[in-house]
Amino acid sequence: MDTRPIGVFDSGLGGLTAVRQLRQLLPSENIIYFGDTARVPYGGRSAEILLKYARQDVRFLRSHDIKAILVACGTVSTTALPQLRQESDIPILGVVEPACRRAAAVTRNRRVGLIATAASVRSGAYQRSLRQLDPDIAVTAKACPLFVPLVENGRFRRGDVVIETVAREYLEPLRREGLDTLILGCTHYPLLTDIIGDIMGPGVTLINTGEEAAWELKRTLRGLDLLAPEGPAGRATLCASDQPEHFGSLASYFLGESLTRPVQPVDID
Ligand code: SIN
Repeated sequence: MDTRPIGVFDSGLGGLTAVRQLRQLLPSENIIYFGDTARVPYGGRSAEILLKYARQDVRFLRSHDIKAILVACGTVSTTALPQLRQESDIPILGVVEPACRRAAAVTRNRRVGLIATAASVRSGAYQRSLRQLDPDIAVTAKACPLFVPLVENGRFRRGDVVIETVAREYLEPLRREGLDTLILGCTHYPLLTDIIGDIMGPGVTLINTGEEAAWELKRTLRGLDLLAPEGPAGRATLCASDQPEHFGSLASYFLGESLTRPVQPVDID
């Protein structure tokens, strides 16, 4: 048993979709979340810069005596996770493997789609992981660079003509590929589930990376005897490196609960 908090980070708001799942699966855990809003989006950056940002994010979370880290960012998970793990003496989990395991388990026709940031698609990490699980899976990957800035600006609701137009542009070609499973390879994308589902149709299973990673974290903490004892509801402390008020105004949509405390500003440098 371990009462220390779990650290979670992402470039911005998206990783809160993973925190939402963690709060349901592990209600007694305290969570400290960092959204690097000063530098969002991460998805168009080089691997070198992403590693630098990720190390700073980890250093900030570790200053809070955490017991494990969930990298709730597809882009960092696909580009910097092995290095972060090498440098860490506490468990660090990403979103790629859990999502790929779920996709490989649910696909029936072995045609799996991936939507993610440009850096994630370019890294090939999801594609490699899926092929290791099942070499017969055919992966169609599509970078969707406009999704994160639109979501961060609150443009994620059904009926919003801007996000719906962008989504159709990205997803129509994928729809014609005959996929039965689509990995939402960035933790911002679950906010677009309705819009993506409308375009892809009911025959396509959408994989929520944050949700799968939250299950994986629960299994890992249990295996290492690091779960918090059952008891009163844990606290989620939210921190952001820029515009904490804007972050706070949208956070409850991602978290699925109202914020009880203001978002803490953080100088990540
Ligand atoms: C981004 O900041 O571009 C998205 C982060 C992610 O890949 O989850």
